[in-house]
Amino acid sequence: MTAPSEKLLLFGATGDLSQRMLLPSLYGLAADGLLPADLAIVATARSEHDDGAFRAFAETALRRFVPSERLDEEALASFLKRVSYVPVDASKESDFAALAEAVGSTDKGLSIFLSTAPSLFEATIQGLAKAGLAGDGVRIGLEKPLGYDMASSRHINDAVAAVFPEDRTFRIDHYLGKETVQNLLALRFANSLFEPLWNAGGIDHVQITVSETVGLEGRVGFYDGAGAIRDMVQNHMLQLLALVAMEPPAQFNATAVRDEKVKVLRSLRPIDRATVQAQSVIGQYGAGAVAGGAVPGYLDELGKPSDTETFVAIKAHIDNWRWNGVPFYLRTGKRLPSRQSEIFIQFKGVPHSIFDGRGAVLQPNKLIIRLQPDENVRLLLMSKEPGLDRDGIRLREVPLDISMPNAFADTRRRIAYERLLLDLVEGDQTLFVRRDEVEAQWEWVDAIRDGWAANAMRPKPYTAGTWGPSAAIALTERDGVTWHD
Ligand code: BG6
Repeated sequence: MTAPSEKLLLFGATGDLSQRMLLPSLYGLAADGLLPADLAIVATARSEHDDGAFRAFAETALRRFVPSERLDEEALASFLKRVSYVPVDASKESDFAALAEAVGSTDKGLSIFLSTAPSLFEATIQGLAKAGLAGDGVRIGLEKPLGYDMASSRHINDAVAAVFPEDRTFRIDHYLGKETVQNLLALRFANSLFEPLWNAGGIDHVQITVSETVGLEGRVGFYDGAGAIRDMVQNHMLQLLALVAMEPPAQFNATAVRDEKVKVLRSLRPIDRATVQAQSVIGQYGAGAVAGGAVPGYLDELGKPSDTETFVAIKAHIDNWRWNGVPFYLRTGKRLPSRQSEIFIQFKGVPHSIFDGRGAVLQPNKLIIRLQPDENVRLLLMSKEPGLDRDGIRLREVPLDISMPNAFADTRRRIAYERLLLDLVEGDQTLFVRRDEVEAQWEWVDAIRDGWAANAMRPKPYTAGTWGPSAAIALTERDGVTWHD
């Protein structure tokens, strides 16, 4: 941990992420007194706003995206006073000079957050360096996507590293800012109950599902060039997998946690040209209905032919002692029946059932860690149904529920970016992704994509509002496993 920054510089301040997430998060932190009292926020984007026009823009965004019960007029006015605006075109050196003048001294720390297209990262970072905005007290936060494959990611990371050392580089994966994701660490390492079973001896398989009901959401150009594996698996889902599978870190700090995650990522068994058809399924949604409303197909939304996958399911293995033989099934897609992100862990069944032949069917225990829409943790256990059954004993699977909103009713649910922006300003890298992690993620994903291309695998159609192509169901059923819906 280093000292908190005195200034925050936000690139891409007029963008969608800024309006929906970044400005509301900063407001939330400021309203709760969590930001350094005198933290000045300098917003920048290409638009030719002055301070007043940007404040009006920010106010509109906050009134729209901060829940009304959280919007306090006094806090809002005081937050807007912290904010100033400087227009910057990343290709103009003179703009960076003006920015440096507006920012002033960086001696007491400056945190910079780049929420712009990654194609602008390099020019922006060089502009910052030339303008003297990259010195010792300056940290840089980078929003995804960090490239579209290993080569482009290395290119960006090299450009960043030429100016900012790794200990001042904060790569965002907003899933790491989600409460339940951090709670996974608490669940595993603050309780003694699970860890003895958390291995190939105790766990049958793991499923990680991130399903979305939304389609392209206007991100036509970006999404079609990415597809589900690069948009969701390369980052969020592999981070979830790493947190589930990692060894206990010796401490809860950035180095120890990230050292353990990267070991898992590097132990992922490569899925290559020979295995990719058996271990992955890709799909693309056609017209259908989601939540009772008719929705167009991907190609209609896009307006041109495309082989981009909007769904992917993968059977992964981690080649180390702990996880030998335990499949990790990953699944994500757009236009699925519900918005649901969860980690589902199925334990092994009992070694011998004393209830066989007495009318009871035993289910293996399951732990379900729900990230959204609601946050909760459920442990499914076998229990006796109350009653006096003559011919046997009736057993039923019942949940032991820890619903976060109930257990912690008096604490406000925060958006992931509140945690991450606060950690950036305070200089704590634990929940940010290190370069070696990003590269291990790309290495695994690139091989899969290479396998798809080599085998001419094209996405199979699925109807919007269903759980992807039927081949995704076959992927697990071959192993006697059913997706948890
Ligand atoms: C982003 C992806 O990283 O995560 C989007 O680019 C996706 O396509 C989003 O919709 C999902 O985030 P969340 O927090 O809504 O699950």
